[in-house]
Amino acid sequence: MIRFKENYSLKKYNTFNIDVKARYFFEFTELEDLPFFLESNKELAGQKILLLGGGSNLLFANDFDGLIIHSNVPGVQLVNEDREHVWLEVGAGEDWDRFVEYCVLNEYYGIENLSLIPGNVGAVPVQNIGAYGVEICDFVVTVKGFDLKTREEYHISAKDCGFAYRDSIFKHELKNRFVVSSVVFRLNKFPNFKLDYGHLKAEVEKEGEINIHNIRKAVVDIRESKLPDPVLVGNAGSFFKNPVVKKELADKLQAEFKDIPTYAAGNGHVKLAAGWLIDQCGWKGYRERDAGVHEKQALVLVNYGDATGEEIVQLSEEIRKSVAEKFNVELEREVNLI
Ligand code: EPU
Repeated sequence: MIRFKENYSLKKYNTFNIDVKARYFFEFTELEDLPFFLESNKELAGQKILLLGGGSNLLFANDFDGLIIHSNVPGVQLVNEDREHVWLEVGAGEDWDRFVEYCVLNEYYGIENLSLIPGNVGAVPVQNIGAYGVEICDFVVTVKGFDLKTREEYHISAKDCGFAYRDSIFKHELKNRFVVSSVVFRLNKFPNFKLDYGHLKAEVEKEGEINIHNIRKAVVDIRESKLPDPVLVGNAGSFFKNPVVKKELADKLQAEFKDIPTYAAGNGHVKLAAGWLIDQCGWKGYRERDAGVHEKQALVLVNYGDATGEEIVQLSEEIRKSVAEKFNVELEREVNLI
């Protein structure tokens, strides 16, 4: 299936539910349709390009005056297995959480802590999604797709993906250039649970014995209790990254603010909780017109209905300023601003 539209509304394609339009929009479900489309629409060659997955990590400030490419390749395939592992190739267009659910049902271990993260599989390696002590880079084997610059298909192995905290090569050298068609993950046939993040273990025990099904349930419960459902209230998860600062600054802050959460980040650095910093500045539950700060998690900005991208950006800038003034810490956006 392909879909090509002009002046196409993106409201359904971004979880902030911002009502903007794309000058051109192209969607495909089979990778070979992409080069064919580009060949037969040469007049689009000079257009600015944006690669769009599930739209769960971006914020449109304006209409997009260019070509949006939406890879919507379906399918989950078991491509290899040995005594300990399974290799699954998953289309970029598959819903991430449906895939996690499938793995949990089949008792393929490893990604249960990443339950209920919104978005499509294609965006998962771009963002190197992570939650509750697990990052997807530990399970990615290969990212397959098409390079718009060389016009060739590539299989990029995990070690070449430049994975780091919420970061990868797809946000830098290959940004808006490498169209992901599928991702190969390697999962375990035996459990090796990671339960040391926050109160996760206690939450799992509330569900019953410690097994993959109860871990998924606990993670879903925690996320549902703290994070707004993008279907009901527009949002893109954490709006900022958790800042990594020098240990000296962290020590100074700790002396002044006794209960500040800190996480060792190696190399004389410490990671702080952006949500805590924003919360301490009094932003939690703040609302101006339809742009606001979620009432249960200050790291999440929300669109209550008709907020514009500009309004959300403006609110985020005010938040940044107040955190910088109070803590001398610069917050960096996690959400991709278009
Ligand atoms: N906190 C507050 N007030 C708030 C929010 C947080 O005091 O309003 C405190 C919490 O009490 C806790 C600390 O800050 O001590 C950290 O909070 P939490 O465990 O909720 O996690 P987070 O650091 O805010 C990160 C990820 C989330 C991920 C969770 C769980 C980033 C930017 N965010 O949030 O990821 O689900 O950990 O692992 O790393 C996302 O990326 O969109 C996302 C939701």
